[in-house]
Amino acid sequence: MQTTVVLRQDSPEAAALLVEGWTVEARSFGALLEADHVDRARLRALAVAGPSDVTIRELCPDDVDDVLALDSMTAADYPGSVATRHEPFDRSSATPWPTRRAWGARTSTERLVALTFVDLGERVAETDVTVVHPDHRGRGLAAAVKSASVLALLDAGVVRFRTGGSADNPAIIAANATLGYVVDETWLTLVAPTP
Ligand SMILES: CC(C)(COP(=O)(O)OP(=O)(O)OC[C@H]1O[C@@H](n2cnc3c(N)ncnc32)[C@H](O)[C@@H]1OP(=O)(O)O)[C@@H](O)C(=O)NCCC(=O)NCCS
Repeated sequence: MQTTVVLRQDSPEAAALLVEGWTVEARSFGALLEADHVDRARLRALAVAGPSDVTIRELCPDDVDDVLALDSMTAADYPGSVATRHEPFDRSSATPWPTRRAWGARTSTERLVALTFVDLGERVAETDVTVVHPDHRGRGLAAAVKSASVLALLDAGVVRFRTGGSADNPAIIAANATLGYVVDETWLTLVAPTP
């Protein structure tokens, strides 16, 4: 079995392992959006910019079966390696809760086609996952659900928003940049040389 570690790209440990012959299997990033830098008007526009037949709203515990269905059908769609692997939801992680809130997009036939889950700490929010049904990608839904989540959480007093993902995921990188997230961490997934 391969030995793999995930380290900050700018760390001395990563530099030392690269010298020893470890190779880069994947790259990932973390990004920050601070409340003071949020452009609320832009986020309000993004939250309603999706297709007209889709409605964005906060999800509640009653949505759990639809969350599990969307998660299950998109489980293989996440790019990257161990650092950005998505653990399939179980009933507990798929259930929105006061410290784990979620927003979703539903079609006019009530089909859940996009969601974002956000874990909350003391005035800090960290996106756990954002996913869009394959038939509805490229229509602004990731940006819409993420914008709706940030706007609601600003009103709840959150001052720092964090997100992240694979460097091989141009769609989520673009969605985050559209919202105003700034990449402030880059990570390497390193694999040990074979003996
Ligand atoms: C990543 C994902 C959520 C994006 O959802 P989406 O609804 O298609 O994204 P949007 O339509 O809101 O697009 C957001 C931005 O990404 C850009 N984009 C969309 N698809 C893209 C692609 N395949 N390549 C490059 N850019 C892309 C859009 O142009 C837009 O950029 P802009 O605001 O500068 O115009 C979706 O592809 C997905 O569900 N992937 C599988 C799960 C995953 O990887 N989730 C992210 C990690 S948690």
